[in-house]
Amino acid sequence: MYAAHHTPTAALASRRTSRSSRAPGDNPARGRGGDSSGAAPASLDQAPSAVGKVHLVGAGPGDPELLTLRAARLIANAKAVVYDHLVGDAIVDLIPPKARRVYAGKEAGNHALPQHAINQLLVDLAREGLDVVRLKGGDPFIFGRGGEEMQAVQAAGIRCEIVPGITAAAGAASCTGIPLTHREHAQTLVFATGHLKDGTVDLDWPALARPRQTLVIYMGLGALEAICTQLIAHGLPATTPAAVIHAATTPAQCGVHSTLADLPNDVRERGIRAPALIMVGEVISIDPGMLLTQTLATTA
Ligand SMILES: C[S@@+](CC[C@H](N)C(=O)[O-])C[C@H]1O[C@@H](n2cnc3c(N)ncnc32)[C@H](O)[C@@H]1O
Repeated sequence: MYAAHHTPTAALASRRTSRSSRAPGDNPARGRGGDSSGAAPASLDQAPSAVGKVHLVGAGPGDPELLTLRAARLIANAKAVVYDHLVGDAIVDLIPPKARRVYAGKEAGNHALPQHAINQLLVDLAREGLDVVRLKGGDPFIFGRGGEEMQAVQAAGIRCEIVPGITAAAGAASCTGIPLTHREHAQTLVFATGHLKDGTVDLDWPALARPRQTLVIYMGLGALEAICTQLIAHGLPATTPAAVIHAATTPAQCGVHSTLADLPNDVRERGIRAPALIMVGEVISIDPGMLLTQTLATTA
C-alpha cells in the first residue's frame, strides 16, 4: 500500500471547496437569447462573429500545477465554464467569480446533466456570444467523450478548439514513480476502459494480456475482479505486478501495489474507491523508493 507525499500548493490548500456544495447543473445557462432550433450555418467559415467559440479544455488529473499554460489562460478569461466531476476543486476555484459556471457532473451512474443536454448547452452558450470553456478531467480526447462534444458543436456550425491535458495515466505514473514504458519491461502501452457503453467489460482480452506491455485501465474498479480473472485466463501470470491508484496527483492520492491474483482482495481490504486507475505490467515492480514503501497511515 502506498500513498502520495503530495504537497498541495498554497492555492490548493486554501481554496478547496466542498464538491457536495455544488448542485447538479449548478447555475445552468438556459440559452437566454440563444436559438437552439435555428438553422446552423452551412460551414464553419460562415459562423457569425456574434457566436462564441467552444474550447474543449483538458484540466489534467487534479493538481492545478499540471494545467497547461493555455488551459490556465482560458480559464482565467472565461465567461462561461462547463465542468465535470473529475475537475479538481483547486482548478474549479480558478474560474473567475463573474463567469457563468455549470456543473455537468458525470460521476459513474450519477450524471447531473445527460450527454445530449451538455452538448446542447455548449451550443446554446456559444450562440449567446459567449466563448465557452468546456473543462474536462485529464485529456478531453481520452475516455472523456470530447469527440462527441466536438462533433455536436461543429455540427451546429460553431468553432471548436481542443486544448490537450495530462491524462490520468501520465499523472499517476509521475507521482508513483511507475514508468509506463521501460526498455527492460514494456515496449507497448495500452489504455483501455473498464466501463463499456453497454455496461459489460467485454474487452479484447488476448490483446490486453500480452507480455512486455503495460496496461492501464480507466473506470475499471467496478469490474476489477472480472478484469484480473480474464487477464490471467488469457495468459498473464497470476504473479504479474498490478496496482490501483486513486486520485492521482491530488492530496487524496493513495493506492495499492499487488499482483493480478491478489489485487481485488487488496483493493477491497483497503477500501479504495473511484476515481482510480488499474495498472498491470512488469513496470510496476520498479520501486523508485518514492511512494511504494509508504502507507496511508504514515501520511494521514
Ligand atoms: C471519464 S474518464 C476520464 C479520463 C480523462 N479524460 C483522462 O484523460 O484522464 C474517468 C476515469 O479516469 C480515471 N481518472 C481520472 N482522474 C484520475 C485520477 N486523478 N486518479 C486516478 N484515476 C483517474 C478514473 O479511472 C476515472 O474513472
